[in-house]
This record gives sequence, C-alpha cells and structure tokens, in this order.
Amino acid sequence: MAFVITLGVLASGSGTNLQAILDAIAHGTLDARVAVVVANVPGAGALDRARNAGVPTAVIEHTRYADRKAFDAAVVAELRARGAEWVVLAGFMRVLTEIFLDAFPMRVINIHPALLPAFPGVHSQRQALAYGVRIAGCTVHFVDRGTDTGPIVAQAAVPVLPDDDEESLRQRILSREHELLPRVLQWIAEERVVVEPPGADAGRARVRVRGAATSVLVAPT
Ligand code: GRF
Repeated sequence: MAFVITLGVLASGSGTNLQAILDAIAHGTLDARVAVVVANVPGAGALDRARNAGVPTAVIEHTRYADRKAFDAAVVAELRARGAEWVVLAGFMRVLTEIFLDAFPMRVINIHPALLPAFPGVHSQRQALAYGVRIAGCTVHFVDRGTDTGPIVAQAAVPVLPDDDEESLRQRILSREHELLPRVLQWIAEERVVVEPPGADAGRARVRVRGAATSVLVAPT
C-alpha cells in the first residue's frame, strides 16, 4: 500500500534526475506528485522539464539573499506554500542550513554521484578517477548538517573502465541515478524507509528498508 507523497524538488542544473522522477510518476511506478520545482539558477534545464510536465516552478536566486539562512527561509516558504512534504535535492548545488533542515526534519533526500562516504562534495567522478577506484556509483541519502554525510538509504555501483574519462564515468553513474532515486522515493511512499537512531554500537543513525534485502553494491529491489 503506497500513499501519494508530495515532493518539492530542488535543482540547479539540467534536471535529468527530476526527469526520471517525472517519468516514473507518469509510468505509474512512483506514487508521488511534484508540487514544485525550485531552482536557484534562472537558466536551469530542470525548469524546462518541470514546465513541460505541467509542474509549477520557482526561481529563487541565492545571489539575491544576504546569506544562506535568508535564502533557505525563502525556499522553505515556497515549498510550504506548495504543500511539499518531502524535499528532493536533484542536482542542487547549495549547502542547506539548519533553517531548512529544521523545517523538514529527516524529510530531505539527496542523490550524490559517488559511493559515499568516498568522494563527497563536488567533482566526485574526477576524485574517483584520480584515486584509481575500480568501482564507482551513486548514493541516495538523507541530508544532515554535513556535506553528503547523512544516513544512506541505497547505493548502486558501476565499474570504472580503463578508458574512462570524467564524462564517460559521469554518464554511467547518471544512468544508475535515474533508476535509484525514483526507487527510493517509492520505498518512501510505501512507508518502508525507517531511520534507526544511533545504537550503542553505532555513532550514527542508520536506515533500514523494510522488506528489502540488504545489499552492498547494488540497490535492493
Ligand atoms: C547528478 O549527478 C547528481 O547526483 C548530482 O548532481 C547531478 C545532477 O544531474 N547531485 P541532473 O541535473 O539531475 O541531470
């Protein structure tokens, strides 16, 4: 049994992950509604994708705000006005403050193009190639106060091939992102995602997905 969850999607770029969400909704594999797409960059391709799908958009330029908290407060106000229950960072290139995280506690999901905790921050694919890893991938996680440090929900892996450059690796990872993010959102809609507080043996919150086998390299189905 799944409920239709109401999403606010934040994006700064081309919005292919947003498109994956919109496509999954259209195909009936994701029980969600995108209430609004917020971009901090006026030219973000994500805005066109939203408009093409009939989804409301808002441009909130961070450069017009005195500081991060003021910007975050404006984005929170927009999301609340649109009724967003969950927030998805789909290529949103801003670090969120507690103003935002306190408004949506454990309700903000990010997709990152690396197997966290390796290679957080920007240029993850470049970092992975420079390090010489043989397996790369993507991570969907809850957002906390750190940069790409929040509790991990799911990960998907791809090989790093000998001739890879940053762009070829980026594309291989991206195609897995487009599978993983809608899948995790559907788990959320099905109320299968449970955040377990830190136990005696673990210093951090961890996520359990009910009814899914735990998996190291590939997201559970
Ligand atoms: C993706 O690689 C995502 O993991 C990262 O930013 C990129 C956004 O791509 N956070 P797109 O805008 O969804 O195409």
